[in-house]
Amino acid sequence: TDGEEEKLSQECKELLLSLPKEKGWRTHHLYKYQGFWCQPREIQSIISFQKHFQASDTDVVLASIPKSGTTWLKALAFAIVNRKRFAISNINHPLLTSNPHDLVPFFEYKIYANNQLPDLSKLPEPRLFGTHIPFASLPNSIKKSSCRVVYISRNPFDTFISSWHFINKIKPRSIAPMSLDEAFEMYCKGVIGFGPFWEHMLGYWKESTDRPHKILFLKYEDMKEDISSCLKKLAEFMGFPFSLEEERGGIIEKIAKLCSFENMKDLEVNKSGKSIKNFENKNLFRKGDVGDWVNYLSPRQVEQLTKVVEEKLGGSGLSF
Ligand code: A3P
Repeated sequence: TDGEEEKLSQECKELLLSLPKEKGWRTHHLYKYQGFWCQPREIQSIISFQKHFQASDTDVVLASIPKSGTTWLKALAFAIVNRKRFAISNINHPLLTSNPHDLVPFFEYKIYANNQLPDLSKLPEPRLFGTHIPFASLPNSIKKSSCRVVYISRNPFDTFISSWHFINKIKPRSIAPMSLDEAFEMYCKGVIGFGPFWEHMLGYWKESTDRPHKILFLKYEDMKEDISSCLKKLAEFMGFPFSLEEERGGIIEKIAKLCSFENMKDLEVNKSGKSIKNFENKNLFRKGDVGDWVNYLSPRQVEQLTKVVEEKLGGSGLSF
């Protein structure tokens, strides 16, 4: 099942032999690299990213664990920092014809994928990037420069349900769907891409409390509840605050609408297009609700995950 591994460098293949290994959620095995679970191809690009990336002070890195609102955050950040280049109400706005993952590339799936070493110096400033890599494993140059990091988190119950749906949608037809119960047990043990989820969250959370000018920690649920204040916070943090005039002209509402689940899901590019790793974009838009987990988890599972969350996040000041 791990045919992908044949394409890896010798160095990476040797490294894999020394790493803890678990059955993954899909076809690939997951390996524990620097304390988090990921696929062989991801490890190869992460090593290259760690070795080569040179952050510039104006960069903005958008970080998340999968299925916690990455696509939404990328759309919002792109709309905000590029609003002078691309007016929000422009009928040719790039967000109307491109998926956010094509406008804000992932380090591990795009920029450093397939042994590439692209020239990033020509990208327009500020450069926007995405990543699922935990804070501790980001290259030093990101940690040491003045570039900024925005993290989006989501309650683990919804993130789990979203992940389970997603994984079954993107799996090859030839393999059987993964049962919710099996996925759930793995999730609670921390075995999920870039997990354990609690360590992922805590790494960014702690850094955001120590260095609030460096890391902005957002929550999907807060954004759903009050997108306007989150947008203001996000714009200010990235160094692109809205002027009074812009606010009076309704720019915040316009950005919120452009990037809303309802608007994005119905765009042609997101109904029939493909982006990262040939995934069909439509799989990135499911329900976009808070609390959908109540429709899936048994009382016993709710109790079990509540316990994990309390045990791992209790005392950190982070709650959902
Ligand atoms: P659900 O599966 O609960 O619907 P990611 O972008 O990190 O892959 O996360 C995917 C989740 O975000 C999915 O959640 C998806 O529906 C939701 N989502 C995608 N675009 C969104 C948007 N513009 N606004 C709010 N939620 C969005």
